[in-house]
Amino acid sequence: MGLGPVWVRRQDPAPAAMDWDALEDRIRACTRCGLCNGRKHAVPGVGDRAARWLFVGEGPGRNEDMQGEPFVGPAGKLLDNMLRALTLSRGQDTYIANIVKCRPVGSDGKDRPPSPDEVGACMPYLQRQIALIQPQVIVALGKTAAVALLGLPADTALAGLRGEPRAFDGIPLVITYHPAYLLRQPADKAKTWRDLCLAKSIIDAG
Ligand code: URA
Repeated sequence: MGLGPVWVRRQDPAPAAMDWDALEDRIRACTRCGLCNGRKHAVPGVGDRAARWLFVGEGPGRNEDMQGEPFVGPAGKLLDNMLRALTLSRGQDTYIANIVKCRPVGSDGKDRPPSPDEVGACMPYLQRQIALIQPQVIVALGKTAAVALLGLPADTALAGLRGEPRAFDGIPLVITYHPAYLLRQPADKAKTWRDLCLAKSIIDAG
């Protein structure tokens, strides 16, 4: 007599064990926090999966949620110009990701920064992306990315974090202003260029 069916609950592997396809599928199906409820598209990231440069923003906005690609709105145009100034482009030695993969939207319908819980729920995905890419430098675009990668309180001032390279999991981390901030404060573009030159000097030395 047979033993009958044995139901084995198939355990999904943790993000830390996933390859790119499994990771992106998991991100697109993710329900780890409430941001999944309103999303049109999760936005895993875009670019060269063997890039030396990894740029990390905050999270998708309205345009990115609609298109499923990071930095496609006005801030994205400025990021593309910054890449061009470094003789880079989307997909060419460059990967672009965000701290959270789904759009944080406030009760007023506007984009908002992710909460610490939302950041915590999403970080395993970025950690796996970083482990797969193994970039030579990570550029944190803005305070949300900087404090999430450094594990600092959300109210830490960005200005004090710039200037010196830091590290995430042993990878040099350069912190600069978010392109959306630079659209409002173009005078700080010169400081951003200095930060990008610092990141380039790390690449050139590597
Ligand atoms: N701002 C971000 O931080 N990320 C995006 O993808 C778009 C705007």
